[in-house]
Amino acid sequence: MNIILLGPPGAGKGTQARMLVEERGMVQLSTGDMLRAAKTSGTEMGNKVADVMARGDLVTDEIVIGLIAEHLDGDTGAGVIFDGFPRTLAQADALRDLLGKRGESLDAVVAMRVDDEALISRVTGRSTCANCGEVYHDQTKPIPDDGKCVKCGHTEFTRRSDDNEDSMRHRLLVYYRDTSPLIGYYHAHGQLRSIDGLGAIDEVKERVEGALAS
Ligand code: AP5
Ligand code: ZN
Repeated sequence: MNIILLGPPGAGKGTQARMLVEERGMVQLSTGDMLRAAKTSGTEMGNKVADVMARGDLVTDEIVIGLIAEHLDGDTGAGVIFDGFPRTLAQADALRDLLGKRGESLDAVVAMRVDDEALISRVTGRSTCANCGEVYHDQTKPIPDDGKCVKCGHTEFTRRSDDNEDSMRHRLLVYYRDTSPLIGYYHAHGQLRSIDGLGAIDEVKERVEGALAS
């Protein structure tokens, strides 16, 4: 099963994708994670995209399509969850072609709706385990009192440089301008399932599962 989690920054795509990976053995392909890894390891591409990402603009289609093509080259287990990709119509067309070459297609596109103020509070309260990538939130999913990650016991957590209010407002503008047209695109292809992304993480998880079963 190949699915897209589609939604604005902070909608909970990464949080829900990680749970699907654990429960279904699917593979999560997050272009944001791939780009951050390139930045951290200081590759030429990583250095090139650092400023663009900090501002909250989109990295070029060519770079992100290349990253997805590389990761779609091997075995994808029980299927792929595309998280943060595609973000433009050109990326959506490229994904259809890449899957087509594998004799595969998309099974569902789950669009997560969350209002802007909730999105801003979600990203400005976010932190991530530096070891395993588990995502936390100061209010809704706090790091335990003993300071240890619930998944791996590590005690170091990071905050993303683009998780400040200014950059987030720009990311939202870019989302509505460049990415939200994909909702119409996938609706027209009969693949769209829209869910309410507000509520507790487990409630949203049930809605995602319901959308995948429908
Ligand atoms: P990317 O890493 O994809 O970031 P994003 O789309 O902005 O999404 P986020 O990771 O911020 O949010 P999320 O939906 O995964 O939410 P999460 O689960 O963490 O992209 C970063 C940048 O890379 C882009 O700006 C761009 O520059 C570049 N880029 C990436 N892909 C690209 C592409 N395809 N094309 C071009 N450029 C690209 O949750 C957020 C917070 O909320 C967490 O703290 C979490 O604990 C909390 N939370 C989650 N669910 C709930 C809930 N139900 N209730 C309360 N809190 C919740
Ligand atoms: Zn961890």
